[in-house]
Amino acid sequence: MNLITKPTALSLKIIEEYIKPGDIVVDATAGNGHDTLALAKLAGTGGKVYAFDVQPLALEQTKTLLEKEGYFHNCTLVLDSHENMGSHIPDHEKKELSAVVFNLGYLPGGQKEMTTQAGATIAAVEQALYLIRIGGIIAVTMYPGHPEGEMERASLLHFSENLSQRQYHTAYLSFPNQKKSPPELLLITRKC
Ligand SMILES: C[S@@+](CC[C@H](N)C(=O)[O-])C[C@H]1O[C@@H](n2cnc3c(N)ncnc32)[C@H](O)[C@@H]1O
Repeated sequence: MNLITKPTALSLKIIEEYIKPGDIVVDATAGNGHDTLALAKLAGTGGKVYAFDVQPLALEQTKTLLEKEGYFHNCTLVLDSHENMGSHIPDHEKKELSAVVFNLGYLPGGQKEMTTQAGATIAAVEQALYLIRIGGIIAVTMYPGHPEGEMERASLLHFSENLSQRQYHTAYLSFPNQKKSPPELLLITRKC
């Protein structure tokens, strides 16, 4: 696959480097379950995936996919906003997550009004910063091609620019010659 032409695949390829079998990870936007399944495969049978979504339909679709592929047993599906993720992770798993993955926007084929919102997304990334372990990663796929997505990107970039350089390292991947506002990636790792 020509990875730089497929931002979501590029994001997963990077995430792969941060997850090993047995790890605990979060999919902050379950949607149709494709990312949850990819994370469940990386975490393996001894690992655990928490997947959040605010739409029951999304979690039903995620459950169906996970059951079909045989990965439902190590996934916990949570019908709640990702900004509350900390309250669903038990204390002994806090600061142990190796990855928190966001694929922003709206459910493909679903209601566009149910898109992720900048305020809740920033609150969720703040939670994720607290929950990941040293060396863990937060990977955010942003969709600046629609108005809410453009605001979300601006908020996330402003937020990440102001993170402590001592504690975190951030990366921002965009695709400057592509005219149709393709997805962009924001990556944050915790250094200490
Ligand atoms: C682009 S889709 C995710 C795609 C998904 N990761 C996949 O592999 O199919 C974005 C999802 O975010 C969900 N969402 C919107 N606001 C949310 C929130 N505050 N907390 C959690 N999920 C949210 C939407 O319902 C939608 O299903």
